[in-house]
Amino acid sequence: MLGFETSDDAAVWRLSDDSAALLTVDFFTPIVDDPYDFGRITAANALSDIYAMGGRPLTAMNLLAFPCSMGAEIVGEVVRGGAEKVAEAGAVTVGGHTIDDKEPKFGLSVFGVVHPDKVVRNRGAQAGDVLVLTKPIGTGLVATALKRGLETEESAREVIESMATLNRAACEAMVEIGVHAGTDVTGFGLLGHVHEMAEASGCAVELDAGAVPLFERALDYAEQGVAPGRTAEIVAWADPFTRWESALARDVWMRVLCDPQTSGGLLIAVAEARADALVAAVEARGGSAALIGRCVSGTAGEVTVR
Ligand code: CO
Ligand code: CO
Repeated sequence: MLGFETSDDAAVWRLSDDSAALLTVDFFTPIVDDPYDFGRITAANALSDIYAMGGRPLTAMNLLAFPCSMGAEIVGEVVRGGAEKVAEAGAVTVGGHTIDDKEPKFGLSVFGVVHPDKVVRNRGAQAGDVLVLTKPIGTGLVATALKRGLETEESAREVIESMATLNRAACEAMVEIGVHAGTDVTGFGLLGHVHEMAEASGCAVELDAGAVPLFERALDYAEQGVAPGRTAEIVAWADPFTRWESALARDVWMRVLCDPQTSGGLLIAVAEARADALVAAVEARGGSAALIGRCVSGTAGEVTVR
């Protein structure tokens, strides 16, 4: 039903009239020092692409590349963190593959299911829809501060726990309420994913920057220029489709809005009449959700920051 031509989060393969397979893979290098946390975050991030499509994960396979010199104990902690997250999601770790590699990497290939008529896609947002975001922004900024010794894993605990949190509550709420489009916020930053959704949907977006939930100190790091190396690239890419009508400092806030996220929340376009119900449904499941803007008619993919 869906391949890699569109910017959707997973491939979709119809199995029968009432069942379709969701297939996805994700891996990266350590974002935190603690191997157990790295495992949890990586698994939550990989499972997120299933949730972004409105699906339910069933099985996961590990992809492991580690230097043998690092020892079995550390690698064991990574795998334990991953397996715990997979189990929390109600799925099962069924295998994987390991190679010896100088630079550590961990990831998962996840298989899930969804009803073929209920696939939530990146496109489908309509003018008048409200945009909802289910995790704060700033994981790249805080992780960079962590790498530079400005944060400790203790002070960054809120961010680490957020990255390790499944998007399950947001997904279940989205499926319950019925939405027009959804995706997870990851490597292109909030602005990039908003743009991709708007472009695929043929609408424009008005983003209320002041309403975007941020992690503590993320804005300070953006002001100080403590940002991941990739941010400048994303800002340069986003500049042409971004119109600035906000009193907030553009250069600082572009670094926030283009901050590449690891295991970010779901970005959902929902009919205005259902927006409050969606937020309530996320909160009822222990999650959080913020209204951050709306879809409007206009040049497809254009984002006006207010
Ligand atoms: Co994704
Ligand atoms: Co992905």
